[in-house]
Amino acid sequence: MTFENLVLDMENSIATLSFNRPKALNALNGALLAEFATALDQIEANKDIRALVLTGAGEKAFVAGADISELAKMNPLQGKTFSATGQKLFSRLEKLPIPVIAAVNGFALGGGTEVALACDFIYASEKASFGLPEITLGIIPGFGGTQRLTKIVGTNMAKEMIFTGKIIGADKAKEIGLVNKVSTPEALMEDVMKCAGKMASMGRVALRAAKESVAAGQNLEIDTGCIIENDAFAVCATSPDAKEGTSAFLEKRKPEFKGTFDS
Ligand code: CAA
Repeated sequence: MTFENLVLDMENSIATLSFNRPKALNALNGALLAEFATALDQIEANKDIRALVLTGAGEKAFVAGADISELAKMNPLQGKTFSATGQKLFSRLEKLPIPVIAAVNGFALGGGTEVALACDFIYASEKASFGLPEITLGIIPGFGGTQRLTKIVGTNMAKEMIFTGKIIGADKAKEIGLVNKVSTPEALMEDVMKCAGKMASMGRVALRAAKESVAAGQNLEIDTGCIIENDAFAVCATSPDAKEGTSAFLEKRKPEFKGTFDS
């Protein structure tokens, strides 16, 4: 299926999804969010895909937030539905069984920072900027930003950003732990694809188990988190990928992971 507001490319085990409304700085309107859900269906259905990269079309923006022209017309019930749709979608993105990198190439504001926060981690261009400026519009973040930003950068830094709506550059975002790596604009996609390619070459079962174990541990005390890790470890240890990985090491060769339980 071709999309009007997105470009989805699936090649060499990596899906690249670009938000594509450059005239509106890739703002998230209802139509784009609906297409995003369909794109996630397609990515999940393709078992060859082992990593996902999100980025923004055009020179200026990753995503400049939810579409303010739509927000301006909403009644309370429509506002609740819009927020719930984004929250559900971003939770689904967060739980995808493959690693997801946000390649932030420009403005990532409001819903743009929120979608990046729902990825596993963020690589940013030197030109990127981040923030939750909703307060300046008389609203608050509605796609999970109050929750995820707080978990990632800590309560006080998140409160300052949410209460003032201040926008920070890529270096500051890296300093506070929001961004893993800052690249030149020219090198961003190369750096992201290198990282995505490395993860895509690992075993699918192990990647999924690692992602689920880290996620489960976010809301648990350490002993319960370790029980989950212990079960996930046992599943991985009996997978064909584990057999291949350990044999390859002992035979001094590169492993070739198939990534399934029936291969
Ligand atoms: N929604 C709709 N349109 C947007 C938009 C948005 N979030 N952000 C930018 N645009 C549009 C502008 O209206 C403009 O359209 P026209 O050319 O038709 O006038 C076009 O994109 C280019 O934008 P600017 O002319 O403003 O570009 P700039 O370089 O001067 O400024 C900017 C860039 C600082 C990002 C500025 O556009 C801006 O502040 N955008 C809004 C950022 C924002 O407040 N985001 C939060 C949205 S609310 C939200 O996300 C709620 C939620 O959590 C669910």
